[in-house]
Amino acid sequence: MLQKKYTPPPLAEIHEDEYSTVCSRFSTNIIRWYNENKRELPWRGATDPYTIWVSEIILQQTRVNQGYDYFLRFIERFPDVRTLAEAHEDEVMKYWQGLGYYSRARNLHAAAKSMNGAFPDTYEGIIALKGVGEYTAAAICSIAYDMPYPVVDGNVFRVVSRYMGIETPIDSGRGKKEITGWANRLIDRKCPALYNQAIMDFGALLCTPKSPGCAECPLAAGCTALANGTVSKLPVKKNKTKITNRYFNYIYVHAGEYTYIRKRAEDDIWKNLFELPLIETSRAVTEEELTALPEFRNLIAGNESPVIKLSLRQVKHVLSHRVVYADFYEVTLPEETRSFAAYKRIKKNEMNQYAISRLVQIFLEKK
Ligand code: ADE
Repeated sequence: MLQKKYTPPPLAEIHEDEYSTVCSRFSTNIIRWYNENKRELPWRGATDPYTIWVSEIILQQTRVNQGYDYFLRFIERFPDVRTLAEAHEDEVMKYWQGLGYYSRARNLHAAAKSMNGAFPDTYEGIIALKGVGEYTAAAICSIAYDMPYPVVDGNVFRVVSRYMGIETPIDSGRGKKEITGWANRLIDRKCPALYNQAIMDFGALLCTPKSPGCAECPLAAGCTALANGTVSKLPVKKNKTKITNRYFNYIYVHAGEYTYIRKRAEDDIWKNLFELPLIETSRAVTEEELTALPEFRNLIAGNESPVIKLSLRQVKHVLSHRVVYADFYEVTLPEETRSFAAYKRIKKNEMNQYAISRLVQIFLEKK
């Protein structure tokens, strides 16, 4: 049933007392809900900033269920800033393998090295760390030090835009400012650690993007979007993310017990992960087209007619802004080949020592 449209008064017209009533009702209900419904997570209850930092970086662009085991393994191997700072980057990458968004691991490592063993304890010190933006700085400051910085992540955008009925696109400067303004007023200054975790769980579990649980929602009575019938419309986004297609042709070399890999160095997906020799094309190509390419002739230089087998075709690998279509070829060469000289020669059974993308891992498991 559609209810009467309710428009909250502009900020400037709300009296201070009303603010505090709106805000304290909001936070009391969210915290009460959280106490009864919170997720049991391995970093819950932690108050040391290092552990919280690691958990928050893992949880950026990663679902809690997926991040759970990575977090446990990472913290077991790198229990504190010093251990992480002293590790080799390749090992850090290996612990990150499969999580995606590898710049997070590189930044984590670089930031640990910059700390001199002591985690910063001010907002300014924390936000200056490599890879730490406003969201992560607020999460660390509030959860570790109980400082009243509101977290503003996707969950908070959704909860606040619905509760306050904000229709300004959240991917605009104005929309971000509006939501952040409200987040600053709504945060419970008496218990920021509890409040911030509560609103994130609330958004993740109840005020979800699709089929939110409005029937059981403790905020239903004050929710503008519910009153206006706009829950499924909010938050508004004006730009849909553009997806680009890429076409990768990977070559797995059999040179006796050896094969070839290299570290991806370009500013591109999977930077610093290892991978098989690769030729990228602007569209899907056939085996004849691929083997006629100068890049291919160059790779196999010195072995004019190697044995080539198309092993896996058109593996579709979906990333956040890209879809990679990959063909995998197996190329057999003499053990002492001089081809692939620009690549690192390793024993095939040593491949598991290198951090590789999930896509290459899928091929190695299937071939
Ligand atoms: N998502 C990211 N960080 C979180 C946290 N600390 N609690 C709940 N959900 C989260």
